[in-house]
Amino acid sequence: MDFLNNSSELIFNVKDLCYSYNEQIVALDHINLTIHPGEKLAILGSNGSGKSTLLKILDGLYFSDSGTVTAFGQILSEQAFRDDRFNFEFRSLVGFVFQDSDTQLFMPSVWDEIAFGPLQLGLDQNEVISRVETALLALHIENLRDRAPYQLSGGEKKQVALASVLSMTPEIWVLDEPSAGLDPRTVSWLIEFINAQSSNGKTIILATHDLSLAEATADRVYVLDEKHQLIAESTPGKILSDRSLLIKANLISK
Ligand SMILES: Nc1ncnc2c1ncn2[C@@H]1O[C@H](COP(=O)(O)OP(=O)(O)OP(=O)(O)O)[C@@H](O)[C@H]1O
Ligand SMILES: [Mg+2]
Repeated sequence: MDFLNNSSELIFNVKDLCYSYNEQIVALDHINLTIHPGEKLAILGSNGSGKSTLLKILDGLYFSDSGTVTAFGQILSEQAFRDDRFNFEFRSLVGFVFQDSDTQLFMPSVWDEIAFGPLQLGLDQNEVISRVETALLALHIENLRDRAPYQLSGGEKKQVALASVLSMTPEIWVLDEPSAGLDPRTVSWLIEFINAQSSNGKTIILATHDLSLAEATADRVYVLDEKHQLIAESTPGKILSDRSLLIKANLISK
């Protein structure tokens, strides 16, 4: 796609980003980060540190108060998303899996939920059917196809949410606390899924406070602290062996 081919080398470039809710509650304080094509990046931080806010800004759902966020070399702004072509291309490339699956799921059946994205992309009927069936198989949820998403368990909802993003075949996966509420077998499966997407050349950006998930998936880690600032960036090995850093960021207790 033009958008990706014409892009600068970075997928995202965040410079001096600040964001507050209602101009009062600081969520992100002077954040600088870069995300390169094909990397697996984890953003680690404790509850309330700003992870979800940061991911929503990367996904163009919120916009910075100050500083800039560039995606594929283009500044993300409300105005940029008013351009239909930009909006379409961005939404085709970037898939977002919400922390809370109830925010993501809204269609009457699982099948319709997974078909929604491909239909929005304007794909023909056979392609839509093929994408839905592929996603149902990949997520092992063929048996849920006719169920109502709101009647599923939390883990099943997460699988449907992942399937609804997979059917869009995004180049960039943005995953907010993807392992939260999943049983151990489903977490192992999730790790394999993320790593398989990465092996296919996709870029992975995930936010979590689950150190083992970061270790099993990421090749680079940023740490957000409780003051909503980035306090470290390194390999998972270095970050996870730095006990004083992890205590400072409230990622382990003393
Ligand atoms: N809709 C909102 N209105 C007001 N403040 C908010 C809103 N959403 C988040 N905040 C505040 O912004 C800060 C960052 O929240 P955010 O949800 O980004 O944290 P998080 O790192 O994702 O936390 P968690 O691990 O609990 O998901 C917190 O202080 C939170 O209280
Ligand atoms: Mg969050």
